[in-house]
Amino acid sequence: MAKAKTVYRCTDCGAESPKWGGRCEGCGEWNTMVEERVAATPARARGSAAPAGGAHAGTAGATRRLRDVDGAESQRWRTGLGEFDFVLGGGIVPGSVVLVGGEPGIGKSTLLLQVAALLTRAGRPCLYVSGEESALQVKLRAARLDGGADEVELLSETALETIAATALERRPAALVVDSIQTVYTAELEGAPGNVGQVRECAARLMRLAKDTGIAVILVGHVTKGGGIAGPKTLEHIVDTVLYFEGDGTLDHRVLRATKNRFGSVDEIGVFRMTGGGLVPVANPSELFLGDRAAPASGSAVTALIEGSRPVLLEVQALAAKAGFGTPQRVATGYDGRRLALLLAVLERRAGLAFGTLDVFLNVVGGARLVDPAGDLAVAMALASSVFDRALPADAIFLGELGLGGEIRPVAQAERRLGEAARMGMRLAYLSERGVPRSVPPGLRAVGVRTVADCCRTLFP
Ligand code: TYD
Ligand code: MG
Repeated sequence: MAKAKTVYRCTDCGAESPKWGGRCEGCGEWNTMVEERVAATPARARGSAAPAGGAHAGTAGATRRLRDVDGAESQRWRTGLGEFDFVLGGGIVPGSVVLVGGEPGIGKSTLLLQVAALLTRAGRPCLYVSGEESALQVKLRAARLDGGADEVELLSETALETIAATALERRPAALVVDSIQTVYTAELEGAPGNVGQVRECAARLMRLAKDTGIAVILVGHVTKGGGIAGPKTLEHIVDTVLYFEGDGTLDHRVLRATKNRFGSVDEIGVFRMTGGGLVPVANPSELFLGDRAAPASGSAVTALIEGSRPVLLEVQALAAKAGFGTPQRVATGYDGRRLALLLAVLERRAGLAFGTLDVFLNVVGGARLVDPAGDLAVAMALASSVFDRALPADAIFLGELGLGGEIRPVAQAERRLGEAARMGMRLAYLSERGVPRSVPPGLRAVGVRTVADCCRTLFP
């Protein structure tokens, strides 16, 4: 048995230190250093022991020209779960490692069980390793899924060595490990979920994937801070990192790629959680537009670019007479400081007074609005609420606001207008300088120069 030594490791950034400290020297976080025992001799999987002969000892490896490397990049396995394939960049790449992170209860196990079932049904057997739930629990979940998941091979196990040996023997197309925080290797001391364990197990599963061509999908829980529990280093090891997010109270879920060695990042996939599992939402605009049958004051629509897709989004504002004290400013799905800035611009450049009003801003459907192109929509929603007059229900607003009240052109205006036209919008207010040469049929573009200009046009 190898001699063990003790090190201290930060649970946030993974920095290692020989002595304990209240604060991590790597990232500066407090109370994140935990004790970890590591084998003093290098673990087998990390490579063969270096022969004696100094720092440069070792045997030469075989090299080859890139053109002689086999395999086409284009090989991907489509699962048939449209939004999942889309976020991955067209499907699962054999031999890749995908990490799916998300808060407990968001639907990671459901998503991956569906993926495993679809792949299995398409003739690509999957091995689903559950370290969190009993076989019966997984079966009960499977029974609720539309289409069922009866053919998926299940292994209830947390020992990495057993998982790897089973995968090597069964040779599934894909291996799902739910979750990486429950897996441990006997070669390291320390409980499952501790940083060293998580990292070592992920690294070994990575090696398994590269050696065998099995696609490995890891589930990772998210910490309070929003990162995947344990070290950032886990994100460096894997090929692709997906985050599964959503508002616990709403039934839609967003899958987002934050790292992808085989595709673009910032793509999103939208799903709805139903009684029969997750259903892809092919038309996210419908979800974020809310129920716009009866136009009310304080509501405005804008178009964002999410990844490569334009999505329409509704913002709602309510400006109401404040009680005693400092008026409230409450923003949901929107940056509070940006709201303060837009209020100041409206006050100075368009003469609207918010000093005695409580202001509430809400982005519909639990979405987040960070694109500055949404400024004009937020400003017009606020103005509409102050005047208590509804904006045209079939209008969208695109524009970034400058401190002088000027409206700036937005990137990819044509694609945003295209989506607006597709969703039945007939009017688009945007910067005079940013009206694209071709506007989709059925849509009229109105160029406006300043926020005051826009207010005068809409509320004469
Ligand atoms: P789960 O996949 O267990 O989440 P995670 O693995 O991320 O912790 O799913 C959690 C919730 O999903 C659970 O509260 C029940 C709900 N759910 C449905 O609404 N419909 C379904 O078909 C299934 C299987 C689960
Ligand atoms: Mg789960």
